[in-house]
Amino acid sequence: MTHVYMPPSIRHFEPLHMVFSTWVDHLPFGYDLVAAIRPKLLVELGTHKGLSYFTFCQSMKENEIDGLCYAVDTFEGDEHTDKYDEAVFTAVNNHNRQNYHGFSYLMRMFFNDALRHFDEDSIELLHIDGFHTYEAVSEDFASWYPKVKPGGIILFHDVQARLQDFGAWKFWEEIRGQHETFTFNHGFGLGVLRKAGGDRSQDSELLKLLFDDRSDNTAAKMRAFYVHASKHLENMRKLKRLNTAVVAKQD
Ligand SMILES: C[S@@+](CC[C@H](N)C(=O)[O-])C[C@H]1O[C@@H](n2cnc3c(N)ncnc32)[C@H](O)[C@@H]1O
Repeated sequence: MTHVYMPPSIRHFEPLHMVFSTWVDHLPFGYDLVAAIRPKLLVELGTHKGLSYFTFCQSMKENEIDGLCYAVDTFEGDEHTDKYDEAVFTAVNNHNRQNYHGFSYLMRMFFNDALRHFDEDSIELLHIDGFHTYEAVSEDFASWYPKVKPGGIILFHDVQARLQDFGAWKFWEEIRGQHETFTFNHGFGLGVLRKAGGDRSQDSELLKLLFDDRSDNTAAKMRAFYVHASKHLENMRKLKRLNTAVVAKQD
């Protein structure tokens, strides 16, 4: 019998925290990746309104993962997001306190100032989504790579975004051949890099599909799967909004 890949995002995942962000195309994958790795330590560089970060936190909670999460951001914005006001931090902070109290912490500071709080080889999932020039992404990677555990995962958002002076795509093109990587091309693109080493004997199905089975066929199927999964999620959200509107009209 053919085995069907049926990750948790398909079985039960309704994002609790929906805000506008180009990360929207990667929510099912973000949710499944956390469920697959079950990280003891997760760090995000660049949180803004929290779409990616709270997807990770939701997966930690719903899949009963015993780990700590840290979101590093000045919560002031940069030249790509533009400066934003205090209401952004207040909303993120409130959502965090109400839903993820006790395991998720906001570190309101520059990435470089957060570095000293983390041990070498300790982070099991790192998401790099800060300022998007080539120089900034290279610096974030160089500074934080030593903090990632061997066998750990680093996500890069926007590896397909070729607007303004975005340079994550260029950096990704340079390093993807030097490491074990997998690239999602849909949306603004998401790069998945696995640091060498570590114990791989307990690898989940998702990690095996991304990194062990190197066939073009499997890679294409995985890409297609997550395009469909994010479209499915979007349709479910539309349907829910429509139903709410109908009920409101009937009242
Ligand atoms: C693209 S947004 C993050 C998007 C978010 N991950 C999402 O899901 O929508 C980038 C964020 O990185 C923050 N940022 C950029 N460079 C930074 C730095 N060096 N230190 C701290 N925060 C930084 C900005 O304040 C901004 O909120």
